[in-house]
Amino acid sequence: MKAVILVGGSGTRLWPFSREKLPKQFLRLLGDESFFQKTIKRLLQNLSPEDLIFSSNREHIFLLKDQLKELHLDPESFNFVLEPVSRNTAPAIALAVRFAEENLGISEDEAIFVAPSDHLIEPEETFGEYLEKAEALAREGYIVTFGIKPYRPETGYGYIEAGENLPRLGFRVKRFVEKPDLDQARTYIASGNFFWNSGMFAFTPATFWSEFKTHAPEIYNAVYGQIVESILERFDKLPDISIDYAVMEKTDWAAVLPLELRWSDVGSWEAVYEVNPKGENENVILGKALLIDTKNSLVVGNERLVSVVGLSDVMVVETGDAVLVARKGEGQKVREIVERLKADD
Ligand code: GDD
Ligand code: MG
Repeated sequence: MKAVILVGGSGTRLWPFSREKLPKQFLRLLGDESFFQKTIKRLLQNLSPEDLIFSSNREHIFLLKDQLKELHLDPESFNFVLEPVSRNTAPAIALAVRFAEENLGISEDEAIFVAPSDHLIEPEETFGEYLEKAEALAREGYIVTFGIKPYRPETGYGYIEAGENLPRLGFRVKRFVEKPDLDQARTYIASGNFFWNSGMFAFTPATFWSEFKTHAPEIYNAVYGQIVESILERFDKLPDISIDYAVMEKTDWAAVLPLELRWSDVGSWEAVYEVNPKGENENVILGKALLIDTKNSLVVGNERLVSVVGLSDVMVVETGDAVLVARKGEGQKVREIVERLKADD
């Protein structure tokens, strides 16, 4: 089995931390290791470096290699596919699959596992069992997704409606809806038959290309059977679309494997608060901070000491050149700050 690790996105909801130069996957918001480093360590329990392909942007190569070296891993033993521009996950994954065929000799019916690098999965040790199950399902011709039991009407995720039971494990996917609106999300949660899409996939090249041919012909025609070097030259011409919209919403060949693990995509400052152990007065302090009469708050002092007095339910995040102060529960609106800043550029 080969694995493609997506390391290309930027992420806007963790501003002022995550930005184009320091995307979410490289941040250390839970202990000493970044999400990227945690992802690598998890996968290396079951796979070896030569089976891993990092799908990333040229801009991030130094960061990526530095973080591997910190784990005492030799960057040269891994594979890299570096995009000249970002075109979202459908073109990125198609390119990585081509790379695996051209350079790693993957056969048509060998499974490929695709994983984002900005998630938290616990306990890490049991994840291997799911990889094996996914590999078996992928070899039966499915695009396998990993479903999480949803507990709030989050609109930032894909929703998977489970259909019939598959003979050995998992379910057939009846419907896949990427990022529904709040009303839809509420209905899905109430129905009890939906999962969140965790963003990981498994499939064989045979299934992958046949589904891209049907549902994403523009990408298929530009990538299938082409030499990686020549795809890269024309990469900027590819449509900017995620695999969720391009294929997952349309395919009849999706299966879902319920993932009974703790999962978080740590997509907001509230989530950073949630996944970290709480200290005195239920506060979470990362870096340098001094809190007095403050409770239920997240305070991140990156370059300067941050002090907070007499507040509760706030999130204060300091970086060298920007500071965020927000009420806990309003973190989704951080995206609007990023949009405003972009518009003013
Ligand atoms: N190489 C590469 N190139 N990687 C990319 C690119 C790109 O152009 N764009 C995004 N990525 C990487 C991100 O770094 C991340 O690891 C992964 O692909 C998913 O992209 P996101 O942009 O984070 O997607 P999302 O969070 O909005 O939605 C996806 O994940 C959700 C779970 O976290 C979808 O699959 C949803 O359905 C899912 O619920
Ligand atoms: Mg994400």
